[in-house]
Amino acid sequence: MPGNAELSGAAGMSDPILSLKHLGITLHGRDGSVNEVTADLSLDLGRREFVSIVGPSGSGKTTLLRAASGLRRPDRGEVLFDGQPLGDVAPGISIVFQEYNKSLFPWMSIGKNVSLGARRLPQSQRQSHVDAALASVGLEGFASRYPWELSGGMQQRAALARAMVSDPKLLMMDEPFASVDALTRGHLEDVVADLWERSSFAALLVTHDVGEAVYLGDRVLVLSARPSRILAEIPVDLPRPRSQRHTRLLPRFVELEAEVLSHVESAGRSAALTRPTSITEPQSTEHLA
Ligand SMILES: Nc1ncnc2c1ncn2[C@@H]1O[C@H](COP(=O)(O)OP(=O)(O)OP(=O)(O)O)[C@@H](O)[C@H]1O
Ligand SMILES: [Mg+2]
Repeated sequence: MPGNAELSGAAGMSDPILSLKHLGITLHGRDGSVNEVTADLSLDLGRREFVSIVGPSGSGKTTLLRAASGLRRPDRGEVLFDGQPLGDVAPGISIVFQEYNKSLFPWMSIGKNVSLGARRLPQSQRQSHVDAALASVGLEGFASRYPWELSGGMQQRAALARAMVSDPKLLMMDEPFASVDALTRGHLEDVVADLWERSSFAALLVTHDVGEAVYLGDRVLVLSARPSRILAEIPVDLPRPRSQRHTRLLPRFVELEAEVLSHVESAGRSAALTRPTSITEPQSTEHLA
């Protein structure tokens, strides 16, 4: 089994937008438990790359994304964004979370919610950027509505518009479509694929859905159980633009999906076998989720 550094895949990539260098993250619970989320994880993300991350529940994907975006400082190692050490969340990074109902303010119209993402732009440019962002996710005409007047899928489109309105260099998504039905999920995947193809940002997607990881990604990284490392890296050699109807029926898509799934299953088996990282850590059943 090669070491994690060799599996960072794009190691040696020139001019990545994001570099995670030997990240180590240890969480300390209030009860004194010690939880080593990752010990030494490295990853490079190209400026126009779309990388999907899958892994067992509790393996540390959200924690990793928080560290990679500047929301949390790693305990060891370094995060470089656009060649610079990352302090707090940088202006060029946008994040979309799973809970669209928590990420939009219910007392603000959709237009106002989206304009929050444009607050760094000069006032004179904000409205045109908000209108363009809403149009890019198919929500033109909905600026004056309130989040609670929209379906879950439409609210997640609005969250995407808010992420895109600042014209980010890097879009991070943590299970962005986990709360919507399968049909809406497919539509939202295509909204993201379309945005990515028409713009010039890099994307890092955390998902539990192996098909989604393959459908959207240029590479799929499979994380191991904690302390997480990159267990496998699968380049996705499917043509773009992709479409739900054609891409998912390609024999190569099915092959890639099976390959990723087999790695995820072995990561899941090792998660089930993982001992607590500390004798004081409470028993957890989250790996069974
Ligand atoms: N603030 C915290 N303090 C202590 N432990 C934490 C904290 N946040 C998360 N953890 C633990 O860290 C581990 C990684 O959590 P994380 O949420 O990153 O996993 P995940 O891979 O995103 O899981 P899921 O797939 O279920 O979303 C889990 O064991 C979790 O219980
Ligand atoms: Mg998570």
